[in-house]
Amino acid sequence: MTQVPGPDNDEENDFERLHDAFDIDDPVFAERFEDALEHLVNRCPVAHGNASRGSYKVFNRYRDVRRCAQDWRTFSSSDGWMMEPPEGNIHILPEDSDPPYQTNWRRVLNPFFTAEAVDGLEDHARRYADDLVSAFVERGECEYVADFAAQLPGLILFKHIMPVPVADLPTLFQDIDIYSFGPLEERAAAFGRVYEYLQQFLKDRAQQAPQGDLVDILLAGVEREEGEMCPWEDKVHCALDVVFGGLATTTHAMAGAMFEMASKPEVRRAVMNDAGAMRTAVEETVRLYAPVVLVGRSAREDAKVGDVKVDAGQRIALNYAAASRDPEVCKNPREFDVTRSEVVHTAFGVGPHRCLGEHLARLEIRIAIAAFLDRIPDPELAPGTTPAYESGQLRTMKHMHLVWRP
Ligand code: HEM
Repeated sequence: MTQVPGPDNDEENDFERLHDAFDIDDPVFAERFEDALEHLVNRCPVAHGNASRGSYKVFNRYRDVRRCAQDWRTFSSSDGWMMEPPEGNIHILPEDSDPPYQTNWRRVLNPFFTAEAVDGLEDHARRYADDLVSAFVERGECEYVADFAAQLPGLILFKHIMPVPVADLPTLFQDIDIYSFGPLEERAAAFGRVYEYLQQFLKDRAQQAPQGDLVDILLAGVEREEGEMCPWEDKVHCALDVVFGGLATTTHAMAGAMFEMASKPEVRRAVMNDAGAMRTAVEETVRLYAPVVLVGRSAREDAKVGDVKVDAGQRIALNYAAASRDPEVCKNPREFDVTRSEVVHTAFGVGPHRCLGEHLARLEIRIAIAAFLDRIPDPELAPGTTPAYESGQLRTMKHMHLVWRP
């Protein structure tokens, strides 16, 4: 453990167990996420954790996280992003791979996710968002996660990017919802059903004429080694990365944005009147409501990160959520400040694995805020309620009850 001296008080002491026994599933992250991250980034630049594959180091500061994420030759992704993968876990692609295989996938996927490509989805996104709001606007209340944020990303993905038959959507949405937010014991089965569904969907599409979409690209595959095309299951694993990478993550960010809007009238006035404030609000949302909290890498050789030695073979974790709150790159990091001139964060990752869907996520968050506030300008948290979160390597808001005058 590397510990920076600081004020000794009870609040700080609550987090000290994380220095030498870091565990992202520690309830402290679900209950006191902001305080825990602030403590780590200020008092414990490098924590130590233990997993069944051995001990690992957790980098919490921006410059260390950035350095490791960019140096993919030393810090490989091919052992997977999970620190404690469940039995039978599969490796998703391109996330759990290194260049050049990872780059081969990105080269063919990127064109569907550029800022220009996703601009073409704006009108559709706005229409779906308006329809969702119409379903509850007269009620004067909603549970924002289930009624809105969990639905919008899936509508866009499955109707426009990976178009599945419309009749399949209710079952598919239900299984994705159980996998992302349902009871823990039901999640593995729900994941299995989504896996099977996507696999069958790809098989069916392979029998049809090409449609010029992302599915054709997945089916065509890429070279895994020079002169050797990837196997079938890698195509399915790539479809899974796009599906699971893009849904609960964006849902959580939208919910975080709406929590800020519902709690701060001055912020919602600013974003509705000023496109620049809206853009900054979207960046502040992902910075502070980072759905991807931390990801794993494996050291391929002995290395130094700052003053800290990492041995070949050792696992490390990059704490993206903490690095986005590093006072070295962000003044008053806890504040959701739509007047910042620049927002520096690691919420979409840095280096070759930088999020494939970042432009789509930005568009969806912006549309979600605008479509809701246009029709419901003064939402508030329902009296006596606070949002509930679930935390692990991914963080999700489970529910948030809003009320307004219908
Ligand atoms: C607010 C929403 C989102 C956040 C915060 C987010 C965050 C991230 C982060 C941190 C990474 C890098 C992981 C690493 O360094 O190992 C990543 C990768 C990825 N994301 Fe996102 N993501 C979001 C939305 C999306 C969307 C909408 C999609 C697609 C529809 C998507 C698809 C992916 C994929 C496929 C990767 C793997 C890229 C690679 O390994 O080359 N994400 N995302």
